[in-house]
Amino acid sequence: MGFLNDIEPLKQTALTELKNAADLAALEQTKGAWIGPNGKFTALMKQMGTLSKEEKPAAGKLINAAKVELEAALAARREELELKAALPKEPTDFTLPGRRRALGKLHPLTQVTDDIVRAFRKIGFAVADGPEIEDEYHCFDALNTPADHPARDSQDTFYLNTTDKRLLRTHTSSVQIRVMEKQPPPVRIIVPGRVYRRDNADATHNPTFHQIEGLYVDKNVTVGDLKGTVEFVFKELMGSDVKIRFRPHYFSYTEPSYEIDFTNALVKKMGKDWLEIAGCGMVHPQVFETVGYDPEVWTGWAFGFGIERIAMLRYGINDIRLFYENDVRFLKQF
Ligand code: DAH
Repeated sequence: MGFLNDIEPLKQTALTELKNAADLAALEQTKGAWIGPNGKFTALMKQMGTLSKEEKPAAGKLINAAKVELEAALAARREELELKAALPKEPTDFTLPGRRRALGKLHPLTQVTDDIVRAFRKIGFAVADGPEIEDEYHCFDALNTPADHPARDSQDTFYLNTTDKRLLRTHTSSVQIRVMEKQPPPVRIIVPGRVYRRDNADATHNPTFHQIEGLYVDKNVTVGDLKGTVEFVFKELMGSDVKIRFRPHYFSYTEPSYEIDFTNALVKKMGKDWLEIAGCGMVHPQVFETVGYDPEVWTGWAFGFGIERIAMLRYGINDIRLFYENDVRFLKQF
């Protein structure tokens, strides 16, 4: 019977068309054209009736096998195309920032640092950075720090076992020098960073903690600018009931020098009138000379805040060591 010979080539054409269907709609069309009620393969099956009794079993077997094969090809292609349709049209850029953090939180110290940086950025400060392993020149000498200053003593500072007497920086003030060495004035920077001192850990001290240094150099810069800037930043951070006061102090790299005290409702709640939070002052002319700025032309101020102090105040934390223990029960609260 002639049409038995047609089965194999028809099946091959159908298989090719099913496999090449470009999308789900095209696949449905191809399916209809072959195995739908009016499909070519269906027509073939209808012709079974014209076969003789002897021919029928073999033909039936052949046609059924072909139909099974076509249906399997249809299902396979459908799965492929459905998968393809589910993929995004544009390639995904995995370097884009996420809409939300998938897991975890920022450490409270990071959150406070980010907020301080944000406040300073509003008034035109840029973030600068420097090494935690420093030399004595940048940490002390260039900051006009005398040879007999206690910070230079190995009782107070971590020195590395190197011939050039390198050390873990005791303050972020070293970065003032590194920045001024590299760029001419004016300068308006802040430097968040980690510092190290040989303190024994107790509720308010730890051998490593964090500071934010600030440096502003321009013409006709005054203590008034310094006070206004510090007040602005603390109001941004802690709310409008903040008050600050400057107390005379001594630092070898500033003249005059001050300590900054801070108060607000939180401080009062802790049973205190004022809390010391920073050192600051007008940059010493000797420091300008050392980095090659003309002290007759340029004036400036600098400060250093302790970040932990600010975070402890903000969150009502009374033990600094909690920041470093990485206890999730503590960290989860921020
Ligand atoms: N470096 C000082 C400290 O660690 C803080 C400080 C005081 C920084 C006065 C300054 C400054 O820039 O002008 O205690």
